[in-house]
Amino acid sequence: MQVRIAVDAPASVQTGALVVPIFSDGELAGAAAEADAALGGAIADALAAGEIKGKLAESVFLHAKDRPFKRVLAVGLGESAKFEPYLLARYAGAAVRALGRRNIAEIAIALPAAAKGSEALCAAFVAEGAIAGSFETTAYQEKPEKKNAVESVEVLGAGFDAREVERGVARGVVLGEAVNFARRLALTPANDMTPTHLADEATTAAREAGLEIEVLDEERARKEGMGSYLSVARGSAQPPKFIVMTYKGDPSSKELLALVGKGITFDTGGISLKPPERMEEMKYDMSGGAGVIAAMRAIGKLRPKINVVGIVPATENMPGSQATKPGDVVRAMNGKTIEIINTDAEGRLILCDGLCYAKKLGATKILDTATLTGACVVALGHAASAAVGNDETFTAQFLAAAKPTGERYWQMPYYDDYTTAMKSDIADLKNSGGRAAGTLTAAAFLRAFVDETPWVHLDIAGTAYLDNESAWQAKGPTGTPVRALVALVDALASPQAAHANGSAASKVKT
Ligand code: BES
Ligand code: MN
Ligand code: ZN
Repeated sequence: MQVRIAVDAPASVQTGALVVPIFSDGELAGAAAEADAALGGAIADALAAGEIKGKLAESVFLHAKDRPFKRVLAVGLGESAKFEPYLLARYAGAAVRALGRRNIAEIAIALPAAAKGSEALCAAFVAEGAIAGSFETTAYQEKPEKKNAVESVEVLGAGFDAREVERGVARGVVLGEAVNFARRLALTPANDMTPTHLADEATTAAREAGLEIEVLDEERARKEGMGSYLSVARGSAQPPKFIVMTYKGDPSSKELLALVGKGITFDTGGISLKPPERMEEMKYDMSGGAGVIAAMRAIGKLRPKINVVGIVPATENMPGSQATKPGDVVRAMNGKTIEIINTDAEGRLILCDGLCYAKKLGATKILDTATLTGACVVALGHAASAAVGNDETFTAQFLAAAKPTGERYWQMPYYDDYTTAMKSDIADLKNSGGRAAGTLTAAAFLRAFVDETPWVHLDIAGTAYLDNESAWQAKGPTGTPVRALVALVDALASPQAAHANGSAASKVKT
């Protein structure tokens, strides 16, 4: 899908459908008022009749015979007082989904008057949301029913600072494509999405975005001392791949941000086998890793002034004849021994070696992200991811950067009790602390591998994929945490820009 800026006025744009925003309160304004006038008051009539109330992502479709724009889709943005720029991603996504299903190939999307003064930010969300809205889960279907026909999207810049709109669109395209890339990786079934295939996808992404990449094989991982990571791979016939992507945007600086993502391409639970119910969803257990790979791709294209390394330990968790057994003791890269109580607590076992490797590479800040615990879904449902850190400043910086993206993160506490729960009688640590505070005992386990390096852990078990579609998004993988990772990178690269999205920090590589 193509997204670009057009400077036509809404009422004179030649397109298959014109998309205009309406709020649930107040008068029709801007593009919506112009479209309404061109249609002889049809949008106002639809509102008066209660056909549409202006609620977020709700829409009404009208034909505009003999007008250059042919059709109008009025899409709700909710209450004007509650407007936030990220809602424009949902507005644009809803438009692309509604029109794409109607077999319309070319559309033009108007910005709300509220975008004045923050054009780049708003246009970025429109572009990101339009691209994310075009994503469908049909890759394996011979004759997909849910094809999206939208091929080209114009963001209407008339009356706005066109250069800012253009800058925002360029950034939004990179983000939207990264989001869809992460979703495609997560969606791909585990018989295709092996650790080798994930590493190949990362290699292609690195080439496209001008990143360095190194893929450590099993032998190399053994030499590095990654006994915890390799203990998970033992039960699988698929060779493990430890993916390392490097972006050097600030060569003169010694600061290095590490993004570490869980890359379990399928989680059976291992010898502590999972029950069959919904086990198929465990193909999504590499969503954190996919998020890191996709964010690295976006970072390479946006070129912020910062050094970032993306680390994805990838493996299957299978109950093969060589598999690790409950009670086994393994040794991580930093020398710490781990008693394996439950082989289904495998995410932390691969991440801890990822964290050690990040430190070996000289990381001065570390973020890890994983579909780590079912307990996180119990605590927060699908409404938010959990965030736990060891450094209030860095955690606050992450939360502030993530907030405007529309991805939700809720900070959870750290207490020494959780570390105590992970003590083993025979090893330095055990890998399961029981049912109580499962998300936080998992975080406490990881914390033991970062020492004093500022670190934040994101449990995305409830947010990486969803059971239901929405007006703006297909069901299945959501692309979480790509938007937040890129926002954090931008915030660290240009701390003066309070709202990282669309900031001057990133220049799109042409
Ligand atoms: N991948 C799962 C966590 C998960 C569960 C993600 C449901 C998404 C939906 C993880 O590897 C796991 O199995 N965790 C265990 C840990 C326990 C054995 C300590 C869990 O949450 O039950
Ligand atoms: Mn598991
Ligand atoms: Zn898992």
